[in-house]
Amino acid sequence: MGSRFCFPMSFLISRTLRVVPATIKPSYLASTVRLMSTSNTEYQFILSSRPDPSVALITLNRPKALNALSSPLFKELNQALFEADADDSVGAIVLTGSEKAFAAGADIKEMKDKEYSDVYKNNFLENWGQIAKLRKPVIAAVSGYALGGGCELALMCDIILASPTAKFGQPEINLGVIPGGGGSQRLVRSIGKSRAMEMCLTGRNVSAQEAAEWGMVSRVVGEGEGKVVEEAITMAKEISSKGQIAVQAAKEVVNAGYELTLAEGLRFERRIFHGLFATKDQKEGMAAFAEKRKAQFTNS
Ligand code: CAA
Repeated sequence: MGSRFCFPMSFLISRTLRVVPATIKPSYLASTVRLMSTSNTEYQFILSSRPDPSVALITLNRPKALNALSSPLFKELNQALFEADADDSVGAIVLTGSEKAFAAGADIKEMKDKEYSDVYKNNFLENWGQIAKLRKPVIAAVSGYALGGGCELALMCDIILASPTAKFGQPEINLGVIPGGGGSQRLVRSIGKSRAMEMCLTGRNVSAQEAAEWGMVSRVVGEGEGKVVEEAITMAKEISSKGQIAVQAAKEVVNAGYELTLAEGLRFERRIFHGLFATKDQKEGMAAFAEKRKAQFTNS
């Protein structure tokens, strides 16, 4: 099962491991993470690192603007995500921001003078949807503000872990607009109509605890700087230790549940389940269980 995205080989070769400049390390990068970090010095608005050989960590890094999601930032984010998705050694991706802000939304200053003819003709924000097409699991590790496009970006990920400081909101209504990065649609599927309406119509921020009670985030981690990133990396490592074909298949069928009827979804799940019997990982996983040993998956 290859990636859906195609990259010129020169692009992939040129974007190999690079070192995080010491001056721009976000404070939450624990020393253990920092030691193993690598990053792309060509990136201006993000950091890309490997806290573990099997985990890609992408950090939004535009602190002065609370990680506002400008077009150049999103371009870099998509590149780093595609790179990680295409890398066979990566089993899962963690996306995070800073302690103060995961992301405070689309860049309002960039948007404010845009005209309808521009945004319509150029399909403004269309490239935001790429993250939802990745084959590998993406875990959002959210601290601080996840507002507007920041909340939508977290919702595009497969799993959201929240620090107790996380605040989720769709404040676009205060700007005379509505969510444009999928918030209204993903929220209604995630937390139901009434709560989605409340968020989109009032612009009220929702605490991490409330978001967890509503089922919007998977869980709230313990307090402490960097804790949410640490937990997300631990989870990403665990996912990476499984057979990657089964991981991708599981992601595909859960996502299908968003769009298909129950009958169609059940049929789809069964077919994918059947298909996994053609993999070596299924033979290995079940043999290992019967032989009371740990499975050695080969992702084949
Ligand atoms: N776009 C551009 N710049 C932003 C920004 C954004 N979304 N959010 C924050 N910033 C900038 C501020 O302008 C400020 O820059 P300057 O120092 O140059 O003035 C800097 O980040 C720090 O922000 P504040 O001084 O406002 O920090 P604060 O701690 O007082 O407040 C905040 C934090 C409550 C998050 C506040 O910044 C805020 O309300 N931000 C806007 C949130 C928002 O409305 N998001 C939705 C954007 S629209 C959208 O996302 C559409 C969509 O669906 C795709």
